[in-house]
Amino acid sequence: MDLEIRACASPEEMGQAITPIGYYFGRTAPNADQAERLTRVMPAQRVYAAWEGGRAVGGLGAFPFQLTVPGGRVPAAGVTVAGVLPTHRGRGVLRAMMRALLDACHQQGEPVAYLWATEDTIYGRFGFGLASFTGEIDLPRERSAFHAPFAACGRVQLVSPATAEEFVAPIYERVVVETPGMFARSSVWWQARTLADPEWRRGTSGDLQCAVLENDGRPAAYALYRMNSAFERGLQAGSVAVIEAMGDSPEATRAIWRYLLDIDWLARVRAWLLPLDHPLLLLLAEPRRLGFSLRDGLWVRLLDVKAALSARSYHAQGSLVIDVIDEFCPWNAGRWRIASDQVQRTDEAPSLRCNVSALGSVYLGGFSWTQLAHALRVDELVSGAIALADSIFQSRKSPWCPEIF
Ligand SMILES: CC(C)(COP(=O)(O)OP(=O)(O)OC[C@H]1O[C@@H](n2cnc3c(N)ncnc32)[C@H](O)[C@@H]1OP(=O)(O)O)[C@@H](O)C(=O)NCCC(=O)NCCS
Repeated sequence: MDLEIRACASPEEMGQAITPIGYYFGRTAPNADQAERLTRVMPAQRVYAAWEGGRAVGGLGAFPFQLTVPGGRVPAAGVTVAGVLPTHRGRGVLRAMMRALLDACHQQGEPVAYLWATEDTIYGRFGFGLASFTGEIDLPRERSAFHAPFAACGRVQLVSPATAEEFVAPIYERVVVETPGMFARSSVWWQARTLADPEWRRGTSGDLQCAVLENDGRPAAYALYRMNSAFERGLQAGSVAVIEAMGDSPEATRAIWRYLLDIDWLARVRAWLLPLDHPLLLLLAEPRRLGFSLRDGLWVRLLDVKAALSARSYHAQGSLVIDVIDEFCPWNAGRWRIASDQVQRTDEAPSLRCNVSALGSVYLGGFSWTQLAHALRVDELVSGAIALADSIFQSRKSPWCPEIF
Protein backbone atom coordinates (compact mmCIF):
# COMPACT_ATOMS: atom_id res chain seq x y z
CA MET A 1 0.00 0.00 0.00
CA ASP A 2 1.64 3.22 -1.19
CA LEU A 3 0.00 5.42 1.42
CA GLU A 4 1.16 7.05 4.61
CA ILE A 5 -0.95 6.30 7.68
CA ARG A 6 -0.49 8.88 10.40
CA ALA A 7 -2.31 11.06 12.89
CA CYS A 8 -3.38 14.53 11.84
CA ALA A 9 -1.05 17.32 12.88
CA SER A 10 -3.49 20.23 12.74
CA PRO A 11 -7.20 21.07 12.66
CA GLU A 12 -6.80 21.70 8.92
CA GLU A 13 -5.55 18.15 8.39
CA MET A 14 -8.41 16.89 10.51
CA GLY A 15 -10.84 18.68 8.21
CA GLN A 16 -9.27 16.75 5.35
CA ALA A 17 -9.40 13.45 7.23
CA ILE A 18 -13.20 13.65 7.56
CA THR A 19 -13.65 14.29 3.84
CA PRO A 20 -13.78 10.54 2.97
CA ILE A 21 -16.72 9.87 5.34
CA GLY A 22 -18.33 13.13 4.17
CA TYR A 23 -18.18 11.81 0.63
CA TYR A 24 -20.75 9.12 1.58
CA PHE A 25 -23.07 11.86 2.84
CA GLY A 26 -22.86 13.46 -0.60
CA ARG A 27 -20.22 16.08 0.10
CA THR A 28 -17.06 16.62 -1.91
CA ALA A 29 -15.47 19.11 0.48
CA PRO A 30 -15.47 19.25 4.26
CA ASN A 31 -18.46 20.99 5.81
CA ALA A 32 -16.54 23.84 7.47
CA ASP A 33 -18.97 24.23 10.36
CA GLN A 34 -19.02 20.48 11.03
CA ALA A 35 -15.21 20.32 10.90
CA GLU A 36 -14.88 23.28 13.27
CA ARG A 37 -17.29 21.71 15.76
CA LEU A 38 -15.33 18.47 15.62
CA THR A 39 -12.06 20.22 16.38
CA ARG A 40 -13.64 21.56 19.57
CA VAL A 41 -14.30 18.06 20.96
CA MET A 42 -11.55 15.98 19.37
CA PRO A 43 -7.81 16.69 19.39
CA ALA A 44 -6.33 16.47 15.88
CA GLN A 45 -3.84 13.80 16.91
CA ARG A 46 -6.74 11.43 17.71
CA VAL A 47 -7.73 11.34 14.05
CA TYR A 48 -5.75 9.11 11.71
CA ALA A 49 -5.73 9.45 7.97
CA ALA A 50 -4.34 7.66 4.96
CA TRP A 51 -2.37 10.24 2.99
CA GLU A 52 -1.65 10.07 -0.70
CA GLY A 53 0.27 12.97 -2.18
CA GLY A 54 -0.84 15.30 0.62
CA ARG A 55 -4.51 14.34 0.28
CA ALA A 56 -6.47 12.24 2.78
CA VAL A 57 -8.11 9.23 1.11
CA GLY A 58 -9.23 7.64 4.39
CA GLY A 59 -9.95 8.77 7.93
CA LEU A 60 -10.65 7.24 11.35
CA GLY A 61 -10.77 8.95 14.74
CA ALA A 62 -11.60 8.34 18.39
CA PHE A 63 -13.24 10.65 20.91
CA PRO A 64 -11.72 10.54 24.40
CA PHE A 65 -14.70 9.38 26.45
CA GLN A 66 -15.40 8.38 30.03
CA LEU A 67 -17.70 5.42 29.48
CA THR A 68 -20.07 4.12 32.14
CA VAL A 69 -19.82 0.36 32.65
CA PRO A 70 -21.73 -1.70 35.22
CA GLY A 71 -20.56 -0.37 38.58
CA GLY A 72 -17.93 2.06 37.28
CA ARG A 73 -16.44 4.24 34.60
CA VAL A 74 -13.56 3.65 32.23
CA PRO A 75 -11.59 5.76 29.73
CA ALA A 76 -12.78 4.67 26.32
CA ALA A 77 -12.08 5.46 22.69
CA GLY A 78 -15.29 6.41 20.89
CA VAL A 79 -14.37 5.39 17.35
CA THR A 80 -15.86 7.57 14.64
CA VAL A 81 -15.62 9.12 11.13
CA ALA A 82 -14.50 5.83 9.53
CA GLY A 83 -14.36 6.37 5.79
CA VAL A 84 -12.26 5.44 2.77
CA LEU A 85 -12.85 7.01 -0.62
CA PRO A 86 -14.46 4.61 -3.10
CA THR A 87 -11.37 4.97 -5.30
CA HIS A 88 -9.25 3.41 -2.55
CA ARG A 89 -11.51 0.82 -0.96
CA GLY A 90 -10.63 -2.84 -0.65
CA ARG A 91 -6.89 -2.12 -0.37
CA GLY A 92 -6.47 -2.47 3.36
CA VAL A 93 -6.76 1.24 4.21
CA LEU A 94 -9.33 0.80 6.98
CA ARG A 95 -7.35 -2.10 8.43
CA ALA A 96 -4.16 -0.03 8.51
CA MET A 97 -5.88 2.98 10.11
CA MET A 98 -7.58 0.72 12.68
CA ARG A 99 -4.20 -0.80 13.54
CA ALA A 100 -2.66 2.62 14.12
CA LEU A 101 -5.64 4.01 16.04
CA LEU A 102 -6.25 1.06 18.36
CA ASP A 103 -2.52 0.71 19.11
CA ALA A 104 -2.38 4.39 20.05
CA CYS A 105 -5.50 4.19 22.23
CA HIS A 106 -4.12 1.12 23.98
CA GLN A 107 -0.80 2.83 24.64
CA GLN A 108 -2.59 5.92 25.98
CA GLY A 109 -4.33 3.80 28.61
CA GLU A 110 -7.78 3.47 27.10
CA PRO A 111 -8.79 -0.13 27.85
CA VAL A 112 -11.96 -0.03 25.75
CA ALA A 113 -12.93 1.11 22.25
CA TYR A 114 -16.52 1.31 21.08
CA LEU A 115 -18.55 2.57 18.16
CA TRP A 116 -21.76 2.72 16.19
CA ALA A 117 -21.51 0.79 12.94
CA THR A 118 -23.25 1.77 9.72
CA GLU A 119 -22.72 -1.77 8.48
CA ASP A 120 -22.75 -4.58 11.00
CA THR A 121 -20.31 -6.84 9.14
CA ILE A 122 -17.31 -4.50 9.26
CA TYR A 123 -16.01 -4.52 12.82
CA GLY A 124 -16.14 -8.10 14.13
CA ARG A 125 -12.84 -8.85 12.39
CA PHE A 126 -11.18 -6.18 14.53
CA GLY A 127 -12.48 -7.73 17.76
CA PHE A 128 -15.60 -5.58 18.27
CA GLY A 129 -18.62 -7.44 19.60
CA LEU A 130 -22.24 -6.35 19.42
CA ALA A 131 -22.84 -4.98 22.92
CA SER A 132 -26.37 -3.57 22.82
CA PHE A 133 -29.52 -3.31 20.83
CA THR A 134 -31.35 -0.05 20.47
CA GLY A 135 -35.03 0.63 19.88
CA GLU A 136 -37.04 2.95 17.69
CA ILE A 137 -40.68 3.96 18.13
CA ASP A 138 -43.35 5.49 15.92
CA LEU A 139 -46.42 5.98 18.08
CA PRO A 140 -49.80 7.37 16.98
CA ARG A 141 -50.38 10.06 19.57
CA GLU A 142 -54.07 9.14 19.92
CA ARG A 143 -52.99 5.69 21.20
CA SER A 144 -50.51 7.01 23.76
CA ALA A 145 -52.57 6.70 26.96
CA PHE A 146 -50.77 5.34 29.98
CA HIS A 147 -51.99 2.12 31.59
CA ALA A 148 -53.00 3.97 34.77
CA PRO A 149 -54.18 7.51 35.52
CA PHE A 150 -51.28 9.92 35.29
CA ALA A 151 -50.50 11.84 38.44
CA ALA A 152 -48.68 14.91 37.18
CA CYS A 153 -45.54 15.98 38.93
CA GLY A 154 -43.54 19.14 38.48
CA ARG A 155 -43.85 21.84 35.86
CA VAL A 156 -42.46 21.87 32.32
CA GLN A 157 -40.82 24.99 30.86
CA LEU A 158 -39.48 25.64 27.40
CA VAL A 159 -35.85 26.71 27.52
CA SER A 160 -33.78 28.01 24.66
CA PRO A 161 -31.17 25.37 23.73
CA ALA A 162 -28.56 28.12 23.84
CA THR A 163 -29.15 28.56 27.58
CA ALA A 164 -30.23 25.02 28.46
CA GLU A 165 -26.92 23.51 29.53
CA GLU A 166 -27.20 24.58 33.18
CA PHE A 167 -30.56 22.77 33.44
CA VAL A 168 -29.96 19.65 31.36
CA ALA A 169 -26.30 18.80 32.03
CA PRO A 170 -26.80 17.89 35.74
CA ILE A 171 -29.78 15.67 34.87
CA TYR A 172 -27.78 13.95 32.14
CA GLU A 173 -24.88 13.40 34.53
CA ARG A 174 -27.19 11.77 37.12
CA VAL A 175 -28.46 9.40 34.44
CA VAL A 176 -24.98 8.72 33.04
CA VAL A 177 -23.50 7.46 36.28
CA GLU A 178 -26.00 4.66 36.48
CA THR A 179 -26.36 3.77 32.80
CA PRO A 180 -23.79 1.52 31.08
CA GLY A 181 -23.03 2.68 27.56
CA MET A 182 -23.40 6.42 28.21
CA PHE A 183 -20.42 8.76 28.23
CA ALA A 184 -19.80 11.96 30.18
CA ARG A 185 -20.39 15.17 28.21
CA SER A 186 -18.14 18.17 28.67
CA SER A 187 -19.52 21.69 28.47
CA VAL A 188 -17.86 21.98 25.06
CA TRP A 189 -19.67 18.85 23.91
CA TRP A 190 -23.02 20.30 24.99
CA GLN A 191 -22.32 23.54 23.14
CA ALA A 192 -20.65 22.19 20.02
CA ARG A 193 -22.93 19.19 19.55
CA THR A 194 -25.93 18.37 21.69
CA LEU A 195 -27.44 21.83 22.06
CA ALA A 196 -26.22 23.19 18.73
CA ASP A 197 -28.76 23.68 15.99
CA PRO A 198 -26.92 24.45 12.76
CA GLU A 199 -29.00 24.51 9.59
CA TRP A 200 -27.25 21.44 8.13
CA ARG A 201 -28.48 19.23 11.00
CA ARG A 202 -32.13 20.19 10.71
CA GLY A 203 -33.11 18.61 7.43
CA THR A 204 -36.79 19.28 6.95
CA SER A 205 -37.51 19.41 10.68
CA GLY A 206 -38.22 22.42 12.84
CA ASP A 207 -35.88 24.13 15.29
CA LEU A 208 -34.25 22.25 18.13
CA GLN A 209 -36.51 22.56 21.19
CA CYS A 210 -35.74 21.95 24.82
CA ALA A 211 -38.30 21.25 27.53
CA VAL A 212 -37.21 21.02 31.16
CA LEU A 213 -39.30 19.51 33.94
CA GLU A 214 -38.77 21.07 37.34
CA ASN A 215 -39.84 19.13 40.37
CA ASP A 216 -39.48 20.28 43.97
CA GLY A 217 -37.65 23.35 42.75
CA ARG A 218 -34.96 21.62 40.70
CA PRO A 219 -34.61 20.31 37.13
CA ALA A 220 -35.45 16.61 37.12
CA ALA A 221 -36.05 15.69 33.45
CA TYR A 222 -35.60 17.15 29.99
CA ALA A 223 -36.44 16.52 26.38
CA LEU A 224 -34.71 17.66 23.21
CA TYR A 225 -36.94 17.39 20.18
CA ARG A 226 -38.04 18.83 16.87
CA MET A 227 -41.52 19.40 15.50
CA ASN A 228 -42.40 18.33 11.98
CA SER A 229 -45.67 20.09 11.39
CA ALA A 230 -47.80 18.83 8.49
CA PHE A 231 -51.45 18.69 7.47
CA GLU A 232 -53.13 16.49 4.89
CA ARG A 233 -56.57 17.71 3.74
CA GLY A 234 -56.91 19.59 6.98
CA LEU A 235 -55.94 16.66 9.21
CA GLN A 236 -52.89 16.64 11.41
CA ALA A 237 -50.16 14.50 9.88
CA GLY A 238 -47.03 15.83 11.55
CA SER A 239 -44.80 14.27 14.16
CA VAL A 240 -42.55 15.15 17.03
CA ALA A 241 -39.05 13.73 16.66
CA VAL A 242 -37.61 13.09 20.10
CA ILE A 243 -33.83 13.47 20.04
CA GLU A 244 -33.35 12.55 23.67
CA ALA A 245 -35.53 12.54 26.76
CA MET A 246 -34.56 11.43 30.23
CA GLY A 247 -35.29 11.99 33.88
CA ASP A 248 -33.44 11.34 37.10
CA SER A 249 -36.32 9.33 38.60
CA PRO A 250 -39.11 7.13 37.19
CA GLU A 251 -41.66 9.84 38.02
CA ALA A 252 -39.69 12.55 36.24
CA THR A 253 -39.11 10.32 33.19
CA ARG A 254 -42.79 9.51 33.01
CA ALA A 255 -43.74 13.19 33.27
CA ILE A 256 -41.41 14.37 30.49
CA TRP A 257 -42.71 11.64 28.18
CA ARG A 258 -46.31 12.57 28.98
CA TYR A 259 -45.41 16.12 28.01
CA LEU A 260 -44.03 14.92 24.66
CA LEU A 261 -47.02 12.67 24.03
CA ASP A 262 -49.46 15.50 24.71
CA ILE A 263 -48.14 18.15 22.30
CA ASP A 264 -51.03 19.31 20.14
CA TRP A 265 -51.16 19.21 16.34
CA LEU A 266 -48.88 16.24 15.96
CA ALA A 267 -50.19 12.90 14.82
CA ARG A 268 -47.21 10.80 15.79
CA VAL A 269 -44.31 10.67 18.23
CA ARG A 270 -41.08 9.27 16.86
CA ALA A 271 -37.93 8.45 18.80
CA TRP A 272 -34.73 6.58 18.14
CA LEU A 273 -31.81 5.15 20.08
CA LEU A 274 -33.93 4.03 23.04
CA PRO A 275 -32.68 1.39 25.48
CA LEU A 276 -34.39 -2.01 25.42
CA ASP A 277 -35.66 -1.56 28.97
CA HIS A 278 -37.26 1.81 28.21
CA PRO A 279 -40.09 2.52 30.70
CA LEU A 280 -42.56 3.45 27.92
CA LEU A 281 -42.90 -0.26 27.17
CA LEU A 282 -44.64 -0.75 30.51
CA LEU A 283 -46.09 2.73 30.94
CA LEU A 284 -48.38 2.59 27.92
CA ALA A 285 -51.77 0.94 27.95
CA GLU A 286 -51.12 -0.28 24.38
CA PRO A 287 -47.38 -0.94 24.10
CA ARG A 288 -47.73 -2.60 20.71
CA ARG A 289 -48.73 0.81 19.32
CA LEU A 290 -45.14 1.92 19.89
CA GLY A 291 -44.08 -0.20 16.93
CA PHE A 292 -40.90 -0.77 18.94
CA SER A 293 -38.31 -2.07 16.51
CA LEU A 294 -34.74 -3.15 17.11
CA ARG A 295 -31.42 -2.55 15.46
CA ASP A 296 -27.85 -3.17 16.54
CA GLY A 297 -26.51 -0.52 18.88
CA LEU A 298 -23.04 -0.25 20.38
CA TRP A 299 -20.08 -2.39 19.37
CA VAL A 300 -17.45 -2.83 22.07
CA ARG A 301 -13.79 -3.86 21.79
CA LEU A 302 -11.68 -4.61 24.85
CA LEU A 303 -8.22 -3.21 24.12
CA ASP A 304 -6.82 -4.24 27.49
CA VAL A 305 -8.73 -7.20 28.92
CA LYS A 306 -7.35 -6.89 32.43
CA ALA A 307 -7.92 -3.14 32.79
CA ALA A 308 -11.31 -3.24 31.08
CA LEU A 309 -12.68 -6.12 33.13
CA SER A 310 -11.23 -4.61 36.33
CA ALA A 311 -13.12 -1.36 35.70
CA ARG A 312 -16.56 -2.92 36.07
CA SER A 313 -18.18 -4.58 39.06
CA TYR A 314 -19.41 -8.15 39.41
CA HIS A 315 -22.39 -9.39 41.27
CA ALA A 316 -21.77 -12.85 42.63
CA GLN A 317 -19.03 -14.50 44.60
CA GLY A 318 -16.98 -17.07 42.78
CA SER A 319 -14.56 -16.93 39.89
CA LEU A 320 -14.09 -18.34 36.46
CA VAL A 321 -11.23 -18.72 34.01
CA ILE A 322 -11.79 -17.60 30.43
CA ASP A 323 -9.48 -18.50 27.58
CA VAL A 324 -9.57 -15.45 25.30
CA ILE A 325 -8.78 -15.61 21.58
CA ASP A 326 -7.62 -12.27 20.18
CA GLU A 327 -5.84 -12.17 16.84
CA PHE A 328 -5.93 -8.40 16.26
CA CYS A 329 -4.64 -7.47 19.75
CA PRO A 330 -2.63 -10.59 20.68
CA TRP A 331 -1.51 -9.13 24.02
CA ASN A 332 -5.00 -9.97 25.29
CA ALA A 333 -4.91 -13.63 24.25
CA GLY A 334 -4.70 -16.31 26.93
CA ARG A 335 -6.32 -17.26 30.20
CA TRP A 336 -7.87 -14.73 32.54
CA ARG A 337 -9.22 -15.45 36.00
CA ILE A 338 -12.20 -13.22 36.74
CA ALA A 339 -13.40 -12.82 40.31
CA SER A 340 -15.50 -10.11 41.89
CA ASP A 341 -12.40 -8.58 43.50
CA GLN A 342 -9.66 -9.23 40.93
CA VAL A 343 -8.93 -9.97 37.28
CA GLN A 344 -5.58 -11.55 36.55
CA ARG A 345 -3.68 -13.76 34.16
CA THR A 346 -3.55 -17.40 35.14
CA ASP A 347 -2.29 -20.83 34.10
CA GLU A 348 -5.37 -22.53 35.52
CA ALA A 349 -7.55 -24.64 33.25
CA PRO A 350 -10.24 -22.50 31.59
CA SER A 351 -13.95 -23.10 32.05
CA LEU A 352 -14.95 -20.92 29.05
CA ARG A 353 -13.29 -20.15 25.73
CA CYS A 354 -14.35 -17.29 23.46
CA ASN A 355 -13.20 -14.64 21.06
CA VAL A 356 -12.52 -11.21 22.55
CA SER A 357 -15.60 -9.96 20.65
CA ALA A 358 -17.77 -12.15 22.91
CA LEU A 359 -16.31 -10.36 25.94
CA GLY A 360 -17.28 -7.09 24.24
CA SER A 361 -20.85 -8.39 23.93
CA VAL A 362 -21.25 -9.10 27.65
CA TYR A 363 -19.14 -6.19 28.90
CA LEU A 364 -21.89 -3.58 29.27
CA GLY A 365 -24.53 -6.12 30.31
CA GLY A 366 -26.42 -5.98 27.00
CA PHE A 367 -26.11 -9.71 26.38
CA SER A 368 -25.75 -12.68 28.69
CA TRP A 369 -23.32 -15.57 28.47
CA THR A 370 -26.37 -17.80 27.97
CA GLN A 371 -27.27 -15.82 24.84
CA LEU A 372 -23.70 -16.15 23.59
CA ALA A 373 -23.82 -19.91 24.25
CA HIS A 374 -27.10 -20.28 22.37
CA ALA A 375 -25.49 -18.51 19.41
CA LEU A 376 -22.43 -20.79 19.70
CA ARG A 377 -20.16 -17.83 20.37
CA VAL A 378 -18.63 -19.28 23.55
CA ASP A 379 -17.42 -22.80 24.41
CA GLU A 380 -18.45 -24.07 27.82
CA LEU A 381 -15.51 -26.26 28.82
CA VAL A 382 -16.76 -27.02 32.33
CA SER A 383 -20.41 -27.79 32.95
CA GLY A 384 -22.18 -24.96 34.78
CA ALA A 385 -19.64 -22.31 33.75
CA ILE A 386 -22.16 -20.36 31.64
CA ALA A 387 -24.61 -20.10 34.54
CA LEU A 388 -21.82 -19.05 36.89
CA ALA A 389 -20.59 -16.45 34.38
CA ASP A 390 -24.10 -15.03 34.11
CA SER A 391 -24.45 -14.70 37.86
CA ILE A 392 -21.08 -12.92 38.07
CA PHE A 393 -21.62 -10.58 35.08
CA GLN A 394 -25.30 -9.70 35.58
CA SER A 395 -26.21 -6.03 35.30
CA ARG A 396 -29.37 -4.19 36.39
CA LYS A 397 -29.82 -1.89 33.41
CA SER A 398 -29.71 -2.31 29.67
CA PRO A 399 -26.90 -0.38 28.03
CA TRP A 400 -27.99 2.91 26.51
CA CYS A 401 -26.25 5.54 24.45
CA PRO A 402 -28.68 8.26 23.37
CA GLU A 403 -26.56 9.60 20.54
CA ILE A 404 -24.62 8.36 17.57
CA PHE A 405 -21.13 9.80 17.84
C1 LIG B 1 -16.17 0.42 5.13
C2 LIG B 1 -14.90 1.08 4.61
C3 LIG B 1 -14.39 2.06 5.68
C4 LIG B 1 -13.87 -0.02 4.40
O1 LIG B 1 -12.64 0.55 4.03
P1 LIG B 1 -11.58 -0.30 3.18
O2 LIG B 1 -10.29 0.45 3.18
O3 LIG B 1 -12.15 -0.67 1.87
O4 LIG B 1 -11.42 -1.60 4.07
P2 LIG B 1 -10.19 -2.60 4.03
O5 LIG B 1 -9.72 -2.79 2.63
O6 LIG B 1 -9.15 -2.18 5.02
O7 LIG B 1 -10.88 -3.89 4.53
C5 LIG B 1 -10.76 -4.34 5.86
C6 LIG B 1 -11.67 -5.51 6.02
O8 LIG B 1 -13.03 -5.06 6.06
C7 LIG B 1 -13.79 -5.72 5.07
N1 LIG B 1 -14.74 -4.75 4.54
C8 LIG B 1 -14.46 -3.65 3.84
N2 LIG B 1 -15.58 -2.98 3.57
C9 LIG B 1 -16.60 -3.67 4.10
C10 LIG B 1 -18.00 -3.51 4.14
N3 LIG B 1 -18.58 -2.45 3.57
N4 LIG B 1 -18.72 -4.44 4.77
C11 LIG B 1 -18.12 -5.50 5.33
N5 LIG B 1 -16.81 -5.72 5.33
C12 LIG B 1 -16.06 -4.81 4.73
C13 LIG B 1 -12.81 -6.19 4.03
O9 LIG B 1 -13.27 -7.32 3.35
C14 LIG B 1 -11.59 -6.50 4.87
O10 LIG B 1 -11.72 -7.78 5.45
P3 LIG B 1 -10.47 -8.72 5.75
O11 LIG B 1 -9.40 -7.81 6.27
O12 LIG B 1 -10.98 -9.66 6.75
O13 LIG B 1 -10.10 -9.31 4.45
C15 LIG B 1 -15.13 1.84 3.29
O14 LIG B 1 -15.61 0.96 2.33
C16 LIG B 1 -16.11 2.99 3.43
O15 LIG B 1 -15.69 4.11 3.68
N6 LIG B 1 -17.42 2.72 3.29
C17 LIG B 1 -18.44 3.76 3.35
C18 LIG B 1 -18.46 4.49 4.69
C19 LIG B 1 -18.69 3.53 5.84
O16 LIG B 1 -19.51 2.65 5.80
N7 LIG B 1 -17.93 3.77 6.91
C20 LIG B 1 -18.09 3.02 8.12
C21 LIG B 1 -18.80 3.92 9.08
S1 LIG B 1 -19.14 3.08 10.60
